[in-house]
Amino acid sequence: MRNIDGQTAVYGIIGNPIGHTLSPVIHNTISEEMGINAVYVPFRANDDITAMAKGLFSLGVKGINVTVPYKTDIIGELCGLDPLAKEIGAVNTLKYTKGGYYGYNTDILGLDRELEDEDIDLKGKDTVILGAGGAARAVAFLCASKSPASITIVNRTKSKAQAIEADIKAYSGKLAKGTSPVVNVLTTDDTGSYDREDIIVFQCTNVGLSPNENECVIADRGFYDRVSAGIDLIYRPAETLFMKYVKETGGRAYNGLKMLVYQAVCAYEIWNDIKLPEEVIRKVREMLEQSV
Ligand code: ATR
Repeated sequence: MRNIDGQTAVYGIIGNPIGHTLSPVIHNTISEEMGINAVYVPFRANDDITAMAKGLFSLGVKGINVTVPYKTDIIGELCGLDPLAKEIGAVNTLKYTKGGYYGYNTDILGLDRELEDEDIDLKGKDTVILGAGGAARAVAFLCASKSPASITIVNRTKSKAQAIEADIKAYSGKLAKGTSPVVNVLTTDDTGSYDREDIIVFQCTNVGLSPNENECVIADRGFYDRVSAGIDLIYRPAETLFMKYVKETGGRAYNGLKMLVYQAVCAYEIWNDIKLPEEVIRKVREMLEQSV
């Protein structure tokens, strides 16, 4: 049990439900490793987010993570917003400033850091995003910011993929970094018509999540011949069926654990204006690998 005293800085996560969050164990481990006098707690939120944000601010809570279902609605309570988070329309990290909370999307900063760490460069590559929910939308914006050759959004419900497609096209146009990627959509039954090679795929649906470990959103095994790297955002199970299929055809596959760790690391670094040592990040990752 850590020592809590009058100087202890308080951090936390708001969401509903919140009982299964791994963020407290991640952040409290980092503080312990760093010798920083801070504590991180879960807050089960109600839907009065204005009262919630005001209460947390008036009590001086230094940093807050935000999870489902508040990642978009909380934006109206902030004093400012990181530009990429603004484009995505979702934040998961709030930093206390004198004028109010400032919002970031460290899910995406964390994924960006993972890609760098794994030497996965999206520039000029063909990318595929499976899913068209909140996670897929954020990943699509990250891809668009990396000048890939193409972004293909594959979803069961085409209209949801088309909504992201339209936003990504508008965003790419604004970036003016030379050539904009080709952006298109497919349904999950339609991947037979996809003909690009050496692709990088982000699995952003909840298909395959424990306990449905024998499910995979793309059943067409021929699709996997084209995949050179597959990143599943799921971390439970540690190896999803999607990852198995990617590996069977010689691709590299990653689960969502590193992204989970890095989103926390990025939040911690933003809150404390520090860079965490690799050794601390490795310890947190190993601890999680054993516990999930
Ligand atoms: P998140 O915020 O985590 O992205 P979400 O918004 O609920 O979660 O999105 C879930 C994604 O998984 C969606 O793309 C959903 O497809 P639909 O848009 O067609 O609903 C996809 N998904 C969930 N269950 C699925 C299933 N059984 N088969 C195919 N796709 C599925």
